[in-house]
Amino acid sequence: MPLKKGDYVILFHDGKRYLVNLKEDIFHTHKGTLDLSQIEGKEYGEVVFSSKGEKFYLLKPTLFDFLMKLRRETQIIYPKDIGYIIVKLGIREGMKIIECGCGSGALTTALAFFVGDSGKVISYEKEERFIEIARENLKRLNLEKRVIFKHKEVFSVFDEEEVCALFLDVKEPWNLIPAAHKALKGGHPLGILVPTTNQVSLVLKALSEYPFVEIEVLEILLRPYKTNPERLRPEDQMVAHTGYLIFAKKVFEK
Ligand SMILES: C[S@@+](CC[C@H](N)C(=O)[O-])C[C@H]1O[C@@H](n2cnc3c(N)ncnc32)[C@H](O)[C@@H]1O
Repeated sequence: MPLKKGDYVILFHDGKRYLVNLKEDIFHTHKGTLDLSQIEGKEYGEVVFSSKGEKFYLLKPTLFDFLMKLRRETQIIYPKDIGYIIVKLGIREGMKIIECGCGSGALTTALAFFVGDSGKVISYEKEERFIEIARENLKRLNLEKRVIFKHKEVFSVFDEEEVCALFLDVKEPWNLIPAAHKALKGGHPLGILVPTTNQVSLVLKALSEYPFVEIEVLEILLRPYKTNPERLRPEDQMVAHTGYLIFAKKVFEK
């Protein structure tokens, strides 16, 4: 399908990816400027040339690209962790889920993507300015209608009950374990991300006081490789730590 004004494209050059919207006129890079109107009518997979004669490939952005290029004003959850969270929480079309701590909306975006038009993400956030940033990030994928933002600091209770999954990305998630237990459907999953091991210990202590089973703690290490087939080896640098993930399922008795 030919590309048109308003479409998103990845401009790929020399290993670098730029996410652009064709509603803009000009895009500047250190390899020259690109007149974006010349892209309209082309197809993903084709090429364009910058003012310096450099070749840029037109690639179709995936959810990964939108997550990596979103506007961020808080720490975000990265795709390597999001992928596992989505699978562990069993996120799919039609689910009603709660997240607490929407921040810049990286996880919100992925949750909204997978719950489909018939699902809902209820996202609690205490800072109004982050809700606005998250909303803008969701708009790029037309996902804002799938999210209900609640501008409030959660202390002891969520407004909803019988939700299919619940995720906490807040500084002190151990305080919200009773609220999470009350809001979840029986047998359904809770996920939590914390950056330090002492926070993990506090969460584990809180979980032990409520009926939760199948408790797991893990971290995900992603190790990219240089793609030279003659000298195949890992990249020299990697992101060594993002956060610890904790998962558990609600039951009715200990
Ligand atoms: C690290 S950010 C969340 C990032 C987000 N998961 C993402 O992927 O972009 C944590 C957010 O939790 C919010 N927060 C912390 N405690 C909260 C609470 N008790 N109720 C609501 N929001 C809270 C903070 O304002 C902050 O924006």
